[in-house]
Amino acid sequence: MAMVSMRQLLDEAAAGGYGVGAFNVNNMEQIQAIMEAARETSSPVIVQASRGARSYTNDRFLYHLMQAAVELYPEIPVALHQDHGNSPETCFSAIDQGFTSVMMDGSLLADGKTPSDFAYNVQVTREVVERAHAVGVTVEGELGTLGGIEDGVGSGEVHLTDPDQAVEFVEATGIDALAVAIGTSHGAYKFSRQPDGEVLAMNLIQEIHEKLPATHLVMHGSSSVPKELVDIINEYGGQIRPTWGVPVEEIQLGIRHGVRKINVDTDSRLAITGAIRKAMAEDAAEFDPRSYLKPARAAMQAVISERMRQFGQAGHAGDYDPRSLADMRDFYAGAAA
Ligand code: G3H
Ligand code: 13P
Ligand code: ZN
Repeated sequence: MAMVSMRQLLDEAAAGGYGVGAFNVNNMEQIQAIMEAARETSSPVIVQASRGARSYTNDRFLYHLMQAAVELYPEIPVALHQDHGNSPETCFSAIDQGFTSVMMDGSLLADGKTPSDFAYNVQVTREVVERAHAVGVTVEGELGTLGGIEDGVGSGEVHLTDPDQAVEFVEATGIDALAVAIGTSHGAYKFSRQPDGEVLAMNLIQEIHEKLPATHLVMHGSSSVPKELVDIINEYGGQIRPTWGVPVEEIQLGIRHGVRKINVDTDSRLAITGAIRKAMAEDAAEFDPRSYLKPARAAMQAVISERMRQFGQAGHAGDYDPRSLADMRDFYAGAAA
């Protein structure tokens, strides 16, 4: 199977009422862990690379590793997605490298830190949509900024997504998927207690979905930060402070209200690091990297298989034939006519 468009994966997920995990990768073992989890659970999947991942791997390694994944797992529909593109140029270079989907994160300026304004966000996102759809590539945009409500307490820096502005943004840009800011943040330290509606605004998802039923919603910062994984790291010398992630039940609630793409990176990182720390501590004389990379890969596979079942994508790999990017280009051209 060739790599498929993310739009098709998300349309199928919407029709089937499930969500699709988008898992970050930086190396061969992470790609293998995701593809093995997809095979184990018969899941369609989104593999995503940040700008940092692309520079760490080098685009050509990433491209050929993904070609190997497609060749070795022909039964799995897989989309390759640029995570948090900081500028149109980053998205265009991803398209040139064979990505089937890009995120133009115009909620921040090109430095990836400074919140932008609405007009800038519309302008850069629209520019990417025009060029991406002309070659059948999917586009995700973002409105509002991640960071966490807790982070913003007292600083006035919280920008949750405004549902009315979301309608305006989707109409003005023509994006396929919208990342919403509802109080989550990237990394392990999202919440200092079990999150409730005060810090995790799931109600916004429902409101936005009611206004934009045809737009696929995306939850970033969606690692659950399981205590068991944190405990393994700490048991073997790590120093992760007490912390809470996004409970899986909240993600499942989101999926019932239009969330189709769920971004997970931190849970994979925790699983890998715990397994490596454990393997090294248990056999300090060993120095073959396979002795710790194999359990690391298996630990990442386990957490991803669990998420695939929880998000509902498990069992759906064989539901449909992939549409080529040329088909998707015609689809977009028809929709615009
Ligand atoms: O966007 C956040 C992802 O976890 C990627 O992180 O930029 O460190 O690769 P990264
Ligand atoms: P986590 O840090 O919660 O895994 O979020 C990852 C993410 O949103 C990537 O874009
Ligand atoms: Zn993100």
